[in-house]
Amino acid sequence: PFEIELASTGARIPVAADESVTQALARAGIDIPTSCEQGVCGTCLTRVLAGQPDHRDQFLTAEERAAADHFLPCCSRARGPLLKLDL
Ligand code: FES
Repeated sequence: PFEIELASTGARIPVAADESVTQALARAGIDIPTSCEQGVCGTCLTRVLAGQPDHRDQFLTAEERAAADHFLPCCSRARGPLLKLDL
């Protein structure tokens, strides 16, 4: 489990082990556009402002993964306790 912080409000949303980041955000009233929900299409691409994403998609290039400034919240997670998102 880890937390998502929203840059706009500072709100922190816990993400349980059995839910995706998009599901946790939806629970908090924030709907990210999604399509494939499997890390393939790139629709849910979201900017990461702090923290290390644990990339589990098949969309980003190796360079984009290494830059760690965007991730795909339908399937990817966090390596540390907190990810701050540009939401
Ligand atoms: Fe397709 Fe997230 S919804 S990559």
